[in-house]
Amino acid sequence: MATTPQWIMIGGDGPESYNQHSSYQRALLETSKEKMNGAISAKLSLDLISDRFCVADFGCASGPNTFVAVQNIIDAVEDKYRKETGQNRAENIEFQVLFNDSTTNDFNTLFQALPPGRRYYSAGVPGSFFGRVLPKHSFHIGVISYAFHFTSKIPKGITDRDSPLWNRDVHCTGFNEAVKKAYLDQYSADTKNLLDARAEELFHGGLMLLLGSGLRNGVKMSETAKGIMMDLIGASLNDLAQQGVIDQDKVDSFSTPLYIAEEGELRQIIKENGKFTIEAFEDIIHPNGEFPLDPKILAVSFRASYGAFLSAYFGVDTTRKVFELVEVKAREEFSRIQNAKPGMQYLIVLRKN
Ligand SMILES: C[S@@+](CC[C@H](N)C(=O)[O-])C[C@H]1O[C@@H](n2cnc3c(N)ncnc32)[C@H](O)[C@@H]1O
Repeated sequence: MATTPQWIMIGGDGPESYNQHSSYQRALLETSKEKMNGAISAKLSLDLISDRFCVADFGCASGPNTFVAVQNIIDAVEDKYRKETGQNRAENIEFQVLFNDSTTNDFNTLFQALPPGRRYYSAGVPGSFFGRVLPKHSFHIGVISYAFHFTSKIPKGITDRDSPLWNRDVHCTGFNEAVKKAYLDQYSADTKNLLDARAEELFHGGLMLLLGSGLRNGVKMSETAKGIMMDLIGASLNDLAQQGVIDQDKVDSFSTPLYIAEEGELRQIIKENGKFTIEAFEDIIHPNGEFPLDPKILAVSFRASYGAFLSAYFGVDTTRKVFELVEVKAREEFSRIQNAKPGMQYLIVLRKN
């Protein structure tokens, strides 16, 4: 069976890049700043803040959001130190930031964009976050922003026409119970590995901050704006197959390695893993609502996040055609997108047991 290509963002800082089209993801980090600050103030042990403090971002992409995430954390650590010790010695703490992403991530763009006035030393950490990428006790606070919804592979049977689990849709819509279970099982296994690895790499008492998109309990993915957009990508691929631009078999055997979990599922996976305590689970009201509700922006933003993965299967030209169609369809389906059920943006604070 073919292996699942790595999921990466469109690199560089050109007109189609993630760098240029990730303001939706960045807005969650900006909105969550106070809550991140509050969690670090309340839950991080002062003993962990010494001469050297290390922050790690898993799934950092090529910027610029990662810089916001790590700066939020550094500001909060300095703030806590000043308030609790009454000393201004925070300037003496040396910060190191570890930027992790897949080996095929555009680290060059990331490093070239490092903020000039930063008060931290940087290092890149290539490799899949589903396994160990760092030695034991390497960092004090980790963050994962909009990268806690991936699976390491497509669940078995999902892309196989002869399997009872064959899924015509390009993602887990939530409507087929057996398909949902297969995705949830895969996601649970992968997330357990991810948490196990972070627990080893993190200092005892350290924190993991998880930010991203989830579902409120009982809401199906394809009832939300993001789910509808995924369905439109699938419909566009099928249109192109009918026009003879791509092979129908190829479309039928395509699926995406991601699973947007419900709040209850996330809680259960973390609890069953047992390495972390959930210190906070915040349902954050995103300033842009479910998404910037403009068909063109929606298509461009989905292309920045999904385009590189689609190109690996279907090629760059076909992917461009797919997103032209997605924009047309998003216009046609606009009222359905506007009236979709809300998804959930979360900040989850985990403390290593
Ligand atoms: C939507 S982007 C989020 C980027 C950034 N954290 C933000 O908030 O804008 C998801 C990132 O996760 C990375 N990613 C996906 N699977 C990964 C894996 N197994 N290991 C490391 N990074 C991964 C992708 O390459 C991508 O850069």
